[in-house]
Amino acid sequence: MEAAMPMPIVRTVRDLRAVVAGWRRAGDRVALVTTMGALHAGHLALVEEARRRGDRAIATIFVNPLQFGAHEDLDRYPRQEAADAAALAGVGCDLLFAPPADEMYPAGFATQVSVAGVTEDLDGAARPGHFDGVATVVAKLLNQAQADVAIFGEKDYQQLLTIRRLARDLDIPTEIVGHPTVREADGLALSSRNAYLSADERARAVELPRAMRAAADAIRGGQEVDSALLAATQRLLGAGFSAVDYVELRDADTLAPIRRLDRPARLLAAARIGSTRLIDNIAVNQTLCR
Ligand code: PAF
Repeated sequence: MEAAMPMPIVRTVRDLRAVVAGWRRAGDRVALVTTMGALHAGHLALVEEARRRGDRAIATIFVNPLQFGAHEDLDRYPRQEAADAAALAGVGCDLLFAPPADEMYPAGFATQVSVAGVTEDLDGAARPGHFDGVATVVAKLLNQAQADVAIFGEKDYQQLLTIRRLARDLDIPTEIVGHPTVREADGLALSSRNAYLSADERARAVELPRAMRAAADAIRGGQEVDSALLAATQRLLGAGFSAVDYVELRDADTLAPIRRLDRPARLLAAARIGSTRLIDNIAVNQTLCR
């Protein structure tokens, strides 16, 4: 049996483009998954989806300093490239693009991509500048890879809408596809930040999806929206969350606040447990909330 080729890792845009150009000459369809590393089963599900949608799958790992606020976890964000590369190879990823910071932001870099509307509230309000950082790096990664399709997790729902908007507005031809959130058996959404939770915090964290599901069920059952959202907030505080940034019912496309289930809706929440901030979201007016 022939030994499998190791998955190549490239660190420059020039090398990335050279590989992609070769694939294109061969007529291959290229799919992209962007990450900040510390990969878990949720990321690997995105790569598996990329493999279904393309002949070639590229993953990127870049811990993007532009999307971290001054008091956020840039320095302690987990970095484990060798383990991540092995996991990517294990699900059949064809190429890893892992650029150093000065490849992404060389001296003199002076451009920022800023998306209005969907970024202005929720995490945009709680984390000023965060979505400008995300939009800037994702616009660059989409331009660098020039993939046919890119897969983003619905776990970061506001981010997904931001990326859809920027790709449309900047005429980036890559198709943007959302992929359902991957959850632990008890319902907690997979996140690289779950690694920060102590055993006790992890046990309590499951109240986030539970409180959201209860609120969604109550709203679908006819309970007034504000009182269902308030009950969810109180349940989280009662379970040991130290703060609830928001629990909100929003239009699934625009993120405008809604008070009635008269269109596709999303319930979104962000809450802190210990020093860790968790976010989650579920669809509300479907038979099954995921
Ligand atoms: O979702 C993430 O991991 C990041 O925000 C992204 C899209 C890779 C941009 O840095």
